[in-house]
Amino acid sequence: MFTLAHLSDPHLAPLPAPSWRELIGKRATGYVNWQRNRRFIHDATVLARIAADIKTQAADHIAVTGDIANIGLAAEFSRGRDWLEDLGSAPDVTFVPGNHDIYVRESAGFAARQWGAYMCDDDGVGGFPFVRRRGNVVLIGLSSGVPTAPFLATGWLGATQSAELAITLNKLRNEDVFRVVLVHHPPVSKAAQQNLLMDARILLRVIATHGADLLLHGHDHIHMINWLEGPDGTRVPAVGVPSASAVPHNDKDAAAYNLYRIDGTRGSWQCELTSRGLAPSGEITQQKRYMLFG
Ligand SMILES: [Fe+2]
Repeated sequence: MFTLAHLSDPHLAPLPAPSWRELIGKRATGYVNWQRNRRFIHDATVLARIAADIKTQAADHIAVTGDIANIGLAAEFSRGRDWLEDLGSAPDVTFVPGNHDIYVRESAGFAARQWGAYMCDDDGVGGFPFVRRRGNVVLIGLSSGVPTAPFLATGWLGATQSAELAITLNKLRNEDVFRVVLVHHPPVSKAAQQNLLMDARILLRVIATHGADLLLHGHDHIHMINWLEGPDGTRVPAVGVPSASAVPHNDKDAAAYNLYRIDGTRGSWQCELTSRGLAPSGEITQQKRYMLFG
């Protein structure tokens, strides 16, 4: 039995004070949006409660699918590193970046420097996709974060990353391993056009051709499950979680995270999903529990 915890979109608050030099281009509109809206949604106390609850669950591994940062200020990356280190050591926590992490052109360098140990393969090599093996679970990390124009939160994997994902999934297909794909943007979403993964159709085609056992994502800040087409009539659950710092009664779901208990072998996997999240009382409680398959 392997227990994988999944949280996403912590959007660390409060936002560090930006310098005037930093508030140019997309960061300026992002800063206004943070001050007017987002700072009332993402709460450090809520996030601390979620992280503390995860620690009581003794998960074998923790996956974080992006958006530690908000507007890509340099200080957000050092704070993000402190937050990751508090959550767990790099071998025990896997991170993939979101659109708020790769916010402007210099962001990818900041992310690699500060968070590289959490987004690399087992030999410490960075780049996407990366592959980490933990028991009979294999984590495949993608980056859908790309700098975009103001007001856009779109994602993009690109032809090279998608082709390498296909090769990776195909190689693992005959191994007795449970393949978990981690990506910030959902492959299927009802969100507005400016929030979508632009080359989702290619990702869906790669999964339909080569298969995966589970895909975990964030970005939409709500509980989501979509069953994707896999090869030979199989179906692959794509599961999204709310922001791990979201207060109740915002226009999305309140903070939550998911636990996956994975057991079995290829052809007969069992995977139980438990959701734990912020109750109206302010406590973190179990909200749902059911078998995804098996
Ligand atoms: Fe987000």
